[in-house]
Amino acid sequence: MAKRPVLAALLASPRPQGHSASLLAAFLKPLRSSWDIRFFHLSALTIKPCLGCNRCIQTKTFRCFRRDAFPKLLAAWDQADALVLSAPVYFYGFPAQAKAVIDRCHPLFHDSHWTKHIRRPGYFLANCDAAARSEFKVITSEARAFMNTIAFEYAGDLLVPGMSNRDAKVRLARACLRAQSLGRTLGRKGMTE
Ligand SMILES: Cc1cc2nc3c(=O)[nH]c(=O)nc-3n(C[C@H](O)[C@H](O)[C@H](O)COP(=O)(O)O)c2cc1C
Repeated sequence: MAKRPVLAALLASPRPQGHSASLLAAFLKPLRSSWDIRFFHLSALTIKPCLGCNRCIQTKTFRCFRRDAFPKLLAAWDQADALVLSAPVYFYGFPAQAKAVIDRCHPLFHDSHWTKHIRRPGYFLANCDAAARSEFKVITSEARAFMNTIAFEYAGDLLVPGMSNRDAKVRLARACLRAQSLGRTLGRKGMTE
């Protein structure tokens, strides 16, 4: 039997059953039978925030001297054929737990394993309370930079504003259909490559 492609799925909201989780579940729905999905709820992992000591770069190990779950994430990203990241906007950016993960990628800019790594498609799902799409400007830039650092090409996104509107339930239901369709796009990619 042919090996199924691997998809790293990252939930970046601290809320395990919130809007980001619904969007992610919808994206994954069309892929469940054909992809090997490695799911990570970032808030459930112990990831120590970067201290900016640069020891990881000076020692050329490109690894933090402190022990936590970060190497597990690195291994999953290394093996994955695609990535999907789903996040809420917190003060224009990522929630603290996800930001800690992103900051820990600091040494990877200097690590040829990552700079020369084959680039795979990465998808970004985001949602927020505000009604304006401009609310996503910062978080999408950060998501792009994060994906580039871990050797994924930003291949598409779904940005869902207005989660505090009165019609939020309907908006989320519609957005989940769009998330499914984005997931199917990856499914078709997976079959042709
Ligand atoms: C600490 C915090 C900061 C937030 N900052 C913003 C913000 O800057 N802009 C915005 O539109 N919504 C903001 N929100 C609202 C969340 O983005 C919104 O409720 C989102 O739908 C939550 O997604 P989740 O259910 O996946 O956690 C914030 C929420 C929290 C708890």
